[in-house]
Amino acid sequence: MLRRLHPDQPESFAFTPANLEWAKRQIAKYPEGRQASAVIPLLMRVQEQEGWISKPAIEHVAGMLGMPYIRVLEVATFYFQFQLAPRGSVAHVHVCGTTSCMLCGAEDLIAVCERVIAPEPFMVSEDGKFSWEEVECLGACSNAPMALIGKDYYEDLTAERFEEILEALRRGEVPRPGPQNGRFSSEPLGGLTSLEGTRPGHKGNASVELALALGDTVKRITGDEPSPPVPHAELQAVEPARDDVTEERSADEPAAPPFRLDAPRDGRPDDLKLLKGIGPKLEARLNALGIYHFDQIASWGPAEIEWVQAELGPAGMGVLKEDFVDQARALVESSGTAYTQRKLGSD
Ligand code: FES
Repeated sequence: MLRRLHPDQPESFAFTPANLEWAKRQIAKYPEGRQASAVIPLLMRVQEQEGWISKPAIEHVAGMLGMPYIRVLEVATFYFQFQLAPRGSVAHVHVCGTTSCMLCGAEDLIAVCERVIAPEPFMVSEDGKFSWEEVECLGACSNAPMALIGKDYYEDLTAERFEEILEALRRGEVPRPGPQNGRFSSEPLGGLTSLEGTRPGHKGNASVELALALGDTVKRITGDEPSPPVPHAELQAVEPARDDVTEERSADEPAAPPFRLDAPRDGRPDDLKLLKGIGPKLEARLNALGIYHFDQIASWGPAEIEWVQAELGPAGMGVLKEDFVDQARALVESSGTAYTQRKLGSD
């Protein structure tokens, strides 16, 4: 397929302030002289913000990365994932038309697209909300037929259910993604035949739960979105209790650096001063070590505590004296529980 820039181009492009900060953090991940490596993440964020990639956006990204314009144009026109013309304001729908989906009814889904969105692929619907295209296998063959709408897969579709989902999105609702026939994931259609009783107590798989908890599957990304919820309680359940770790660790086990971040997630560090014993100066020093969030501190064992104490010097005494780890775990647990009750309990 010939992929050219759209004849009607906007005057200019600019990232939102939050997306600009995000883009700068991506660029900073690469060594000096290798900034071009950030070209795909930046172009994808352009598309997530605008819905498509315009010529001014390509020029803007080229300028940020110190790349010739033609190099960024080559990337944008090579990958089919990049949309080079305006698409539906709510979603650009990808319907899988490969073997499994075709055998299971993809043609019926495409007929729905032609009838309720637009008669041709890539055309924008009359209300401006949708566009569609047929794509190659999206890797969910055992849940055929399926479509990718926004950020989520909608699987085990029928033409009727597919149309209902599009109408719900048109009304601004968040339809439930994932399998539409009651399956949890891709287990046999007739139900589990082994490992019965092992399914977690959730109503849907992790992708489905996350989409429902966020209340979003298709929104444009401005960079101001809240961080996705982290299943802290489940992570803690598989970690040994900290006291046990202390007993198991031999005296000569070396201190180990904890999990650190280049920057706070989504530019929003936790207020570490909520932990007794941490003031503004100590918080700044922890941030300088790449520690921004309560869940990072909550995961420390003795080896990590020793490393942090050594880095902080005398100020690090509070790590044990005030027991930052237990405080952080309590905060993580209480916020996770409250979040889960608020978001998931109402489903
Ligand atoms: S054939 Fe449709 S997802 Fe693989």
